Amino acid sequence: MAGQQKVAVIGAGTCGVSMLKTLSEDGFQVTCFERRKQVGGLWAYTDDPSMTTALPSTRALISKYTCGMTDYPMPEKYPSHLSSAQFQEYIESYARHFDLLKDVVFGASVTRAARNEDDTKWRLEMFVNGEPQSEEFDKVVFCHGYQTISKMPDYEGKELFEGQLMHAQQFRSTKGLEGKNVVVVGMSSTASDIINNLLPVASNVYMSHRRGGYVFPTWRKGVPGDLMVTWRRRQITAFIQRRLPSVYKWCTDKGLNFFMRSHWGRLDPEWRVLPAPSISLSLPGASNSLIPLLQEGKIASVHGIKRFTGPHSVELNDGTVLDDIAAVICATGYTANMSVAPFLERSRPANYDGPDLVRLWMNIFPPKYADSMALLCHSAYGKNNGFSFNDVQSMAISNIFRGVHPLPPLSSMNAAVDAHHEWLASRWSKEQLGFEPSAVKTWEFQAFLHDVAGTGMENLGWGWKGWKFFFRDPKMSWLMNNGVETAHAFRYFETGKRRTWEGARDAIIRANEAVKVFPVKEERRRLICRGGREGGTVEITVLFVEEKGDCMFNFVLCIADILITLTPIQLLKACKSQTTVYSEKKNVK
Ligand SMILES: Cc1cc2nc3c(=O)[nH]c(=O)nc-3n(C[C@H](O)[C@H](O)[C@H](O)COP(=O)(O)OP(=O)(O)OC[C@H]3O[C@@H](n4cnc5c(N)ncnc54)[C@H](O)[C@@H]3O)c2cc1C
Ligand SMILES: NC(=O)c1ccc[n+]([C@@H]2O[C@H](COP(=O)([O-])OP(=O)(O)OC[C@H]3O[C@@H](n4cnc5c(N)ncnc54)[C@H](OP(=O)(O)O)[C@@H]3O)[C@@H](O)[C@H]2O)c1
Repeated sequence: MAGQQKVAVIGAGTCGVSMLKTLSEDGFQVTCFERRKQVGGLWAYTDDPSMTTALPSTRALISKYTCGMTDYPMPEKYPSHLSSAQFQEYIESYARHFDLLKDVVFGASVTRAARNEDDTKWRLEMFVNGEPQSEEFDKVVFCHGYQTISKMPDYEGKELFEGQLMHAQQFRSTKGLEGKNVVVVGMSSTASDIINNLLPVASNVYMSHRRGGYVFPTWRKGVPGDLMVTWRRRQITAFIQRRLPSVYKWCTDKGLNFFMRSHWGRLDPEWRVLPAPSISLSLPGASNSLIPLLQEGKIASVHGIKRFTGPHSVELNDGTVLDDIAAVICATGYTANMSVAPFLERSRPANYDGPDLVRLWMNIFPPKYADSMALLCHSAYGKNNGFSFNDVQSMAISNIFRGVHPLPPLSSMNAAVDAHHEWLASRWSKEQLGFEPSAVKTWEFQAFLHDVAGTGMENLGWGWKGWKFFFRDPKMSWLMNNGVETAHAFRYFETGKRRTWEGARDAIIRANEAVKVFPVKEERRRLICRGGREGGTVEITVLFVEEKGDCMFNFVLCIADILITLTPIQLLKACKSQTTVYSEKKNVK
């Protein structure tokens, strides 16, 4: 059945190559269309300013221990956090290893998918190396990214401004900004990347933000931050989010305020980093350098932009006017490109005055065409470790397309979409500035995909299956519940619904062995900030020095662990506290 079916995958980023591999393994005839010239998605650097790209200086936020694919371990040669070039290399080697490149049409930009005249297939319209083409497919999966269209603020008086006004998507180098004053709008990861690039060359860098925000470090006390998350902790969090949302909100807001102060130290109220919008309603940012740079006076925190008042002047929300500004770079985020899917229906619940909401069942499937169309670009909050979750999505979609997992009736899917829209409307009523229409209930989204994919993760729960696995193989039960949250776990259990990987057990054990080097007693991590690819460099050296004290955060975490999972060993581990000391070294070539 699958063998006679032609499937198109749009996009060859991490999501697309995973989809291509899984569908091919499951017997579909798959073609992947990618507008770039190589795989890797936004990790494949491009000079084309219309495409989102990680900069050469960008490093993954998630460590290599938790972000590889399910059946292709990260090579040991990589550092804990991969550079963009290394990430592209990893995805490229994955594609070569599984012989996927032969099925990718590069330079193919899909403009539209629509049903054919007799409503039996999908017709894709595209430009392949500039030539218009169209082709019909039985099924289509859009893996074309969720950071594709720039969100650009529309400022009053922008026509008066004679400097450069651009979105971060267009930013490639600091050329022309040497010795100039630059405003970067936003206080999240992209703003941080751009600020780090500007620092060695610009005269003054202003970080403009309209409100506060949580800024997560990628390291905490000598340990990559993502290693704090385990499968068990994730399940506990999901349980509280689902059953006690108010308690979750209260605890996370209080906990994160405490975390921000305990991790970063002094946060001058003038910087307006705190108070931050609730993490339950707005996504946080990640950066190792933004707060230290504020503390060291290397960048200035200023209010949001109100309007442009002259060729080089900007008025801020607090009335301050910044003069002699050469460029304003808006690192204000992205959305997915839905224009390629004009068949999508939209609706809005009663008493809701936000933007129209797309009708996608489980934020993936258009209900009417759920057995032949999936979009993987509309699920903010849904993927925990962005990359490793790709295979779970791919296995789930393939199982639905193959009929291994039955779809509910159309009326049930529509009812679920309506209920989800009601949930979104309730979020809109609480938070409009950072409202994310693609938000999903993480607990529901992930549980659904694991179930459909047949990953067998219920063997790690507190149910009888969990205990059975614990008594059969206590070591693996312990590692998979409380150890590194590696994606190899998703290929471990035999469920008959998807392929297992015979190397999974060894890979899980190896990943847990590898992280025994943490916490590092003295880790020098150089954050090299370049002005363009050829400009000067500033090095911010982060030193982790072992020290007693500041156990509070770990203590609270451990009490929770003990209460819920009775795992006292974690207490001992976590009380080996460390602290982070920042020093800065200037080295302008
Ligand atoms: C700078 C940056 C850094 C990030 N760092 C992290 C991180 O450290 N950890 C993490 O978990 N997440 C991170 N993210 C989130 C990021 O979205 C994921 O890392 C991941 O790259 C998403 O993969 P994807 O395949 O869904 O999309 P993308 O990587 O965006 O790939 C989509 C692909 O589709 C192609 N495409 C788009 N439209 C079309 C079309 N119409 N026709 C044909 N091809 C098309 C694009 O060229 C691209 O190759 C980062 C995002 C950004 C912007
Ligand atoms: N690995 C890396 O190093 C790396 C680098 C870059 C990006 N990323 C990832 O890429 C994704 C996108 O990150 P991003 O930083 O581009 O976007 P983002 O996380 O959505 O942050 C956007 C920022 O712009 C602000 N903002 C939005 N609209 C604004 C407006 N109209 N006026 C003023 N401020 C506005 C937001 O603050 P408020 O809305 O709260 O005001 C926020 O600070 C994230 O998932 C991120 O993790 C990772």
